[in-house]
Parts: sequence; structure tokens; C-alpha cells
Amino acid sequence: MYKTLLNTSSAEEQSFIDKITAAVIEKQKKNHKKGKKAQRDVHTKSHGTFKATFTVRSTLPSQLKVGLFAKPGKYNALVRFSNGAFASDAFDALPNIRGIAIKLLGVSGGKMLPGEENSTELDFLMANDETFFAPRIEDMFNLVTGNMKGIATDNPRVLGLMLKAMMKVVKNPLHTDYYSQVPYAFGPDRACKFALLAGEKSPCYSVPNLLDRHYLRHGAVDVLKKREVTFTFAVQLQQSQPRLESLEDSSMLWTGDYLPVADLTFHMVDRMVEESEGEELSFNPWRTLLELQPLSWAGRVRRAVYAADFKWRTEENRKAGLLGK
Ligand code: HEM
Repeated sequence: MYKTLLNTSSAEEQSFIDKITAAVIEKQKKNHKKGKKAQRDVHTKSHGTFKATFTVRSTLPSQLKVGLFAKPGKYNALVRFSNGAFASDAFDALPNIRGIAIKLLGVSGGKMLPGEENSTELDFLMANDETFFAPRIEDMFNLVTGNMKGIATDNPRVLGLMLKAMMKVVKNPLHTDYYSQVPYAFGPDRACKFALLAGEKSPCYSVPNLLDRHYLRHGAVDVLKKREVTFTFAVQLQQSQPRLESLEDSSMLWTGDYLPVADLTFHMVDRMVEESEGEELSFNPWRTLLELQPLSWAGRVRRAVYAADFKWRTEENRKAGLLGK
């Protein structure tokens, strides 16, 4: 069982993972200003954390009844929208990747995150482009260490993929599609990617106020003052024809259809989450079931990096008496 999906790193990969993790924390320490609240290393800017309901559909075909999707269910969820920017006050109009982090509450079954095996939370992390800009772990390493010297990357392909993702125009985070980009297990012998597809798109004639530094947060709140918003949550299964789609290189587009398995409905804004609570949450792709575990080098790097970054920022804020503020 899960033989083909074994998530162990070679010695070389482990060495990259250790170096990437150390570089992230070193950058955090270097950039941290005393007396300021420590924040996420990336996706630092939040457009708000909102309450939602995640409903697993009741009429799924048997091939999709896997893990969380094995039986119908309704889960309360906390959802944080983010901007890939390093600064929490960055202008939303500046190009960047946009993220969504979804935390389902009350999900039974053992979880994969070391130390949180009994957690009843399950997280999904996605961004608004279908592919991931780093084909190999070496590219991620160069990116993280290059960032410390002020260079994004000297690899033209990585630069091209980053720009493609960053240049997408986002008018409202509630009217945007999001993708896991990197693969996850879908039961013992299949792999999938996840997608969250917006039920409605911003009309083409609508122009957001780009001079408003936080127009994405304001746009989401404005919509949710008037009505609920529903996205379709879908899985895209790995295809083996005409050739097996890559698990390791997520810069390559997968071709399978998006198969709807659940719906995510945002409640109206009288139920928005406190800013400090949202910022202190941990979202981690490993907080999930065995059947849906993260795959690929990117998954294995994230197992070390997210835990280290969350631990660093939480401890820093605890020491400074800034938790809850
Ligand atoms: C090797 C690849 C990656 C690395 C090293 C990485 C690194 C990080 C780090 C350090 C954080 C902050 C974690 C925290 O302090 O809680 C983060 C957050 C985030 N990442 Fe990644 N990431 C990677 C890949 C991805 C991918 C493929 C996606 C989605 C398509 C993604 C989406 C996000 C989102 C949405 C957040 C914000 C989560 C939140 O709101 O708490 N990341 N990432």
C-alpha cells in the first residue's frame, strides 16, 4: 500500500531540505524588527480570514470516494486569503501570486503532520496559477538563498514561470480560481491535484480601485456584506496517457478534467475572524489524512519549512508578549 508514493528523501534531497529550511529561518531572523509582530515568511499579507462551510458532495462516483471524500460531510472552515508578498502592507495592485489557505474543523482520522497525529483539522493550501514555478528542488534552493542576496532567480525558465503566475490580474479573491499546483495522494495508488473554482467571476467591465492598498480585502468584504459566495472544490487525477504526468516537476500542466467533489461556501461578513487569530493560525499541507498526503520534493520540503516557520514566529511572538495582539 502507498508503495509508489513513498515520501522519503534521498540524502541529497534531505541536504537541500535542511539548507532551505535554515535559509528561511535565517532570513526571518535577519528581517525581524524588535517589538513588531513576527509574521509568515511568505504570503505575509492577508486579505482577511473568513468563516466558511465545506460540504463533501453526497453523489460522488466510487473512484472519487477517497479519504475526506469517502462519505458526505459538512465541516466548518477557516479560510485565509493571502498575497505572496513579503510585506503585510504591500499594495495589492503590485503583481504577485495570490493564495488561499483552508482549514477544515472536526475531521476525524489520523493526520500526517508529525506531532499532530490526533488533530481534527485538515488544511488545503492553493494559489491562483495552475503550475508551480520551481521545477526542481535545486531551483527552490537557489530562489530561497538568492532572495537573501536580493536576487529573485537567475534561471530564465523559473523567472518566466514566476512572472506568468504573478502577472495574473485579480479583481477580487472571491472571484478567482485556485490550484494546489503540486500533487497529493488520492488513495494508495493514484495521485491528484486540487482546484478551487470560483462560482462567479468579476465582470470584465469592473475596475477595482488600484490606489486602495488593500482593495482585495475590501472587495471581498464588500461582496460578503451582500451575499454568501460558493466555490466548487475539485480533484484532477494524474493521467498516464499519452505519457505519465510528472509528480516531481510541477511546472508541467496536468491535463485531466477537474472533477467536483465538494463545495466551499463563505458566510456573510458578520462572521469574519479576528485579525490576530487569523495571523496566528498554522496552515500546513501535511495536516491531512494518509490518503491525501502531499507528494513530490515540494511536499517533502514543505514538511520541514512550514513547521519551522510557524514555530519561529509563534515563539518570537510569545517571548515578546505579542500573541493575541
Ligand atoms: C517548496 C515549495 C514551497 C515552500 C518552500 C513554501 C514556503 C512557505 C512558507 C515558509 C510559508 C509560511 C508558513 C507559515 O509561517 O505558516 C508558506 C505559506 C503559504 N504557502 Fe507555501 N511554500 C511552497 C509551496 C507552495 C505551494 C505549491 C503553494 C500552493 C499552490 C503554496 C501556498 C502557500 C500559501 C497559500 C501560504 C499561506 C498560508 C497561510 O495563510 O498561513 N506554497 N509557504
